[in-house]
Amino acid sequence: MAVTKEKILDVLKKVEDPGLKKDLVTLGMVRDIEIAGSAVRVTIALTMSGCPMKNQIKDDAEKAIRNLEDVSEARVIFTTMTSEERAKLLGKEPSEMQGIEKVKHIIAIASGKGGVGKTTVTVNLAIALLKKGFKAGILDADMHGPDIPIMLGIDERPLGSRGMLLPIEKFGLKVVSTATLAGEGVPIVWRGPLVNKAIKEFLGHVAWGELDFLLVDLPPGTGDAPLTMAKLISLEGVIIVTTPQKVALADVRRCIGLFVSQKIQIFGIVENMSFLRVPVPGVPEGQILEIFGSGGGKKMAEAFRVPLLGKVPLDQEIRKGGDMGTPKALDADSECGKTFDIIAEALLKHIKII
Ligand SMILES: Nc1ncnc2c1ncn2[C@@H]1O[C@H](COP(=O)(O)OP(=O)(O)O)[C@@H](O)[C@H]1O
Ligand SMILES: [Mg+2]
Repeated sequence: MAVTKEKILDVLKKVEDPGLKKDLVTLGMVRDIEIAGSAVRVTIALTMSGCPMKNQIKDDAEKAIRNLEDVSEARVIFTTMTSEERAKLLGKEPSEMQGIEKVKHIIAIASGKGGVGKTTVTVNLAIALLKKGFKAGILDADMHGPDIPIMLGIDERPLGSRGMLLPIEKFGLKVVSTATLAGEGVPIVWRGPLVNKAIKEFLGHVAWGELDFLLVDLPPGTGDAPLTMAKLISLEGVIIVTTPQKVALADVRRCIGLFVSQKIQIFGIVENMSFLRVPVPGVPEGQILEIFGSGGGKKMAEAFRVPLLGKVPLDQEIRKGGDMGTPKALDADSECGKTFDIIAEALLKHIKII
């Protein structure tokens, strides 16, 4: 006896969407059932194309159908719900589903090259903004080195709820890493409109809620990766991190050029690893060693007529804070805490918040 659509619907009634905790039929996710002899193809509409539960839904549904008598082959293909369908399903207004809508300022942290402290600055600046009473979040968009979870001591993955991805909360910050989209150890191929589309969908369906600031840790460099991300996220502006030496500054020049060519505002430069403070008995400020040279960030800021937001010392405590997942800026009285408070204030002034 040949398999029928009714029989297929019956088994799909027993397959749950792990995020929404209801079966696929009740959720209205089953869109099309095609039967050709003993081969079955089912189209399922996901609430979002970057749905982290996608593979599980596919496996569960295919297995269930294959277990039916008279089925030799089962394949699930996906489509995505429209925003109206999604909103109806989740009992929300479409406007509520726009994850990024209540985020006031989206600011990226970029650098001409890796290893200059982009992630360190992102994390500590977010903490400084938080301490000033702003609601802040971080989007880790550096797929080449998604270090934000490490520097904040996060080891859990975000959960899906009602079709939206919930950011992890740590120290009062809302955090999402794009590494989640790829899954662990899966390299992302940068080029390709499908990947871009998936990232965009994914980003649009994070329930950020109300935020004053969303800081985005961009991939380093001046190639496709940071630019693709910057365009996808529709940034308000960029903060550029550099170290003082010449080679890093040449990278900054290219980096600034890249964003300026895309008409993305440069909010300022943060010079990291500016100096090392060596304790000297009897001298409270110690001795200042300018290991990577001096004045680089200032010169660059003057040349491009952008503010130098601040200078962060090379400080073992900052490195330790990063390794341990407790950003040093949490300690307001530390040199790091004070430095990032100054940087936050300079940023707020520049975007005319204070
Ligand atoms: N000001 C600083 N003082 C001491 N260590 C730092 C400082 N800034 C960054 N680091 C350390 O340098 C390394 C690279 O910094 P990171 O923020 O990961 O750079 P990026 O994100 O640009 O690759 C990390 O181990 C970090 O803890
Ligand atoms: Mg980094």
